Amino acid sequence: MTVREAIESRRSIPFFDPKIEIAQKELTDLLELSNLAPSSMNLQPWEYIVCTSPEAKQKLREASYNQAKVTEASAVIILLGNLEHHLHADEVASSQIKNGYFGEDRRVGFVDMALGAYTANPQKQRDEAFRGGSLWAMTFMLAAHEAGWDTAPLGGFVPEQVSTTFNIPETHLPVLLIAIGKRPSDANILPRNERISTKRLAHWETW
Ligand SMILES: Cc1cc2nc3c(=O)[nH]c(=O)nc-3n(C[C@H](O)[C@H](O)[C@H](O)COP(=O)(O)O)c2cc1C
Repeated sequence: MTVREAIESRRSIPFFDPKIEIAQKELTDLLELSNLAPSSMNLQPWEYIVCTSPEAKQKLREASYNQAKVTEASAVIILLGNLEHHLHADEVASSQIKNGYFGEDRRVGFVDMALGAYTANPQKQRDEAFRGGSLWAMTFMLAAHEAGWDTAPLGGFVPEQVSTTFNIPETHLPVLLIAIGKRPSDANILPRNERISTKRLAHWETW
């Protein structure tokens, strides 16, 4: 499957076969692939809670307007935006130094730049957490689709309830739920709805 084919054939699946399980190894592989998503300064502002047990999925369903696909899916990822992703800066600098992007002498400057950009700027922390998280989510859905899995992104949940139920610290915000599983063999998936035309959306060179 080419990337183009994956983009064209991915759908948000309304029903999943509840009998299908996903192996932790396969899910871990998809999570690892998704970690290759780009992020500002490579600070990787994402984390996730992987719900595979019926108990965890049931609790999540109760915080997501009782959407049935949350319990039908093989797993549901609670994608979190890490508001303190700037604290990854020193680790990220180590990787840059190891790979020859800059020398040890620039470590402190790199870390200071990250801390300066985000510390005491909650709006920027949140923007970056959602921006990076969104790129992670799309990468995950395309990777899963290419591997033969169906997915469904879900923004219909109560963030405070998800945070309380799953003991998520205040430094991490639920960005999106992503259900992964397989559609039932007899599922009637309606055709994809049209998109707004590029002609209306594209502003070339300036607004
Ligand atoms: C941020 C976001 C939130 C969404 N929330 C829900 C949801 O709570 N429930 C649901 O059934 N679908 C949800 N969807 C799926 C959209 O309805 C779906 O992506 C859109 O209709 C386009 O369909 P397609 O993905 O099959 O092309 C969500 C999608 C996104 C990207």
